[in-house]
Amino acid sequence: PAQPMIAPSILSADFANLAAEANSVGDSDWLHVDVMDAHFVPNLTLGLPVVQSLLKATEIPIDCHLMIEDPARWAPPYAEAGAHNVTFHAEATDDPIAVAKDIRAAGAKAGLSLKPGTDLEPYLEILAEFDTLLVMSVEPGFGGQSFMPEVLEKVRTIRRRIDSGALRLLVEIDGGINADTIEQAAEAGVDCFVAGSAVYGAADPALAVSKLRAQALA
Ligand code: DX5
Ligand code: ZN
Repeated sequence: PAQPMIAPSILSADFANLAAEANSVGDSDWLHVDVMDAHFVPNLTLGLPVVQSLLKATEIPIDCHLMIEDPARWAPPYAEAGAHNVTFHAEATDDPIAVAKDIRAAGAKAGLSLKPGTDLEPYLEILAEFDTLLVMSVEPGFGGQSFMPEVLEKVRTIRRRIDSGALRLLVEIDGGINADTIEQAAEAGVDCFVAGSAVYGAADPALAVSKLRAQALA
């Protein structure tokens, strides 16, 4: 991967000051927005109205990570609203191709996310329908958890496929990315690094973003 991308996750931001928090992350590539429905994951965050407001509040492209059931029904509206990338979970649907097509038809990039315990193999053949593969490196639901290095095997596999020219896909990693873990993820072949607590827990979030990017490049 050429230029490492950093996507701060507003899950770790102050939800009462979202506009200011969204714009406190300097030249971040994407702003990662975690949508949780208290069914697919045991936590509840925010939904479409908040994403619509965020889209008006910042110029940074919005990367929606939908940790929800029934993405066939709920994912396309995020694309219609203007999100840059809309990612849903492979475990939440029987027809990921149909959901990806609907997201793309509505004008967004389509992403497929895999929980740490979900194998990549069954999905390799459908990844041509996607723009992004989001590899979860913690169990989805909460920020501030510890990075699971074993998921990097999935990153290495997909990176080999991309480098051989068999696929065009952005590889994103989410969970536990910080100064101690970003280098091993970069080495495995990640393009885009989600970081919640490492960015919003820092005294200077914009500085934290540039430091992470420099580390990913090293
Ligand atoms: C967890 C979310 C992550 C979370 C990452 O389910 O998908 O995006 O915000 O937070 P950190 O970077 O603190 O692990
Ligand atoms: Zn996320």
